[in-house]
Amino acid sequence: MKILMVCLGNICRSPLAEGIMQYQAQQNGFDWEIDSAGTGNWHIGQGPDRRSVRAAQKFGVDISKQVCRQFKVSDFDAFDLILVMDKNNLSDVLAQARSEQDAAKVRLLLNDKEVPDPYYDDTQFEPVFKLIEGGCKDIIKTYTPKGD
Ligand code: 4NP
Repeated sequence: MKILMVCLGNICRSPLAEGIMQYQAQQNGFDWEIDSAGTGNWHIGQGPDRRSVRAAQKFGVDISKQVCRQFKVSDFDAFDLILVMDKNNLSDVLAQARSEQDAAKVRLLLNDKEVPDPYYDDTQFEPVFKLIEGGCKDIIKTYTPKGD
């Protein structure tokens, strides 16, 4: 399974989602490829926001080596599943879909709920970590063969 996590800046939420999904996949013995990207271009080449790095560290997930990149149309070919954090990300990514097949790969990580942007609120990084962690757990459950 190849999963791309997408948010706006690729410095707060989707780096957390990449790190957490990778961690959980490994814990479950799944050989999955996880990456993340932003719909925006402001932070290309930068590492994740320090507050995300710190929140992840606290729960044993290292996201410090990640490098920000922007979402690109070829990501529809490279990934099986494109999980976005909020409804703006959803419409921004869907606007770039070339086909129904592309569009079918895209959905909100939390199904009907959004992962709020913590960028302007230092207190929201840990709650956002927990929200994303729950979403990733559900993904693992969905793809764990029945009977395991
Ligand atoms: P993210 O948060 O989408 O979770 O990475 C943001 C980070 C930076 C900006 C917006 C959102 N920004 O406008 O620079």
